[in-house]
Amino acid sequence: MPRIFSGIQPTGQLHIGNWLGAVRNWVELQHKYEAIYCVVDLHAITERYDASALPRRTREMAIGLLASGIDPAKAILFVQSHVPEHTTLQWFFTAIAPLGELERMTQFKDKSGKHESIPAGILMYPVLQAADILLYLADLVPVGEDQVQHLEFSRELARRWNTEFSRASPYFPEPKALLTPARRILGLDGQAKMSKSLGNTIGILETPEQVWQKLRPARTDPARVTKSDPGNPDVCNLYTLHKHFSPPETQTMVAEQCRTAGWGCLDCKRLLAEGMEVALKPIRERAVELEAAPLEVDRVLAEGAEKARAIARRTIADVKERMGFMPGAN
Ligand code: TRP
Repeated sequence: MPRIFSGIQPTGQLHIGNWLGAVRNWVELQHKYEAIYCVVDLHAITERYDASALPRRTREMAIGLLASGIDPAKAILFVQSHVPEHTTLQWFFTAIAPLGELERMTQFKDKSGKHESIPAGILMYPVLQAADILLYLADLVPVGEDQVQHLEFSRELARRWNTEFSRASPYFPEPKALLTPARRILGLDGQAKMSKSLGNTIGILETPEQVWQKLRPARTDPARVTKSDPGNPDVCNLYTLHKHFSPPETQTMVAEQCRTAGWGCLDCKRLLAEGMEVALKPIRERAVELEAAPLEVDRVLAEGAEKARAIARRTIADVKERMGFMPGAN
């Protein structure tokens, strides 16, 4: 069975953008592949972050993944910092990672612009990501469009390392991106990608009341100023959400009512809220159970880290040998 690896940042509570854009797909893929999923807390420190909040955010993300249906009996789920081999391999890769290319990465350019003094970690981010993937010799990496450049970098790093240290038979496979089916999900502002840092999200654990408070003022087709203006569902961000959360009959009806100004946007939003509740209720209930059982969550993550480490240790031993490190205690 081909192996897949993917990672998600510990941003706290999972939101519907993460869920539709990535996690729902991860749940599907665990049945078809040998899946390894990681909460990437080491990546989180490359940006300004709150150390006192990181444990909670990491745990919340893990709970969100488990509640969404990642099954520890099928997939390995763990926290990146629990497996120290990630940073070991990252360091080995710095020997061959081309500085010029790291500086040309889109995310590096975006993120470094926000700092007066640029932390070196932002530059190294793709090297750590390559280490995450290659440590497990993963074949495929489920990601969204925004990660394609980092994936290409990982492939190139694998190629370079193989050329340098494993010429006779390439050790690392060149991992391929497995693009997530859902297109990127916009936030409730209808402008930018849904993202915790922009405050335009709906958390998957929010109650129906909280969801409604956010949906009610959410941006729709900007051309629809009053209730009697006909709207265009194709440019309405909430219609996109209907496509994910509502049954086909509802989608057709909503689109028709919008085009003919039969309904106001609030009517449409009410139906969307219903559809969301159907999908999110079981996840929320499972998350509440997990939150009440922190020791159980710790145990699942510790077991995940143990399984991941068994693979990671072997890779590091092979890599050290090929890179010429003197054998010794391990
Ligand atoms: N950079 C990814 C993101 O921001 C997260 C990530 C870290 C990742 N390591 C990974 C994704 C390895 C896939 C594989 O979404």
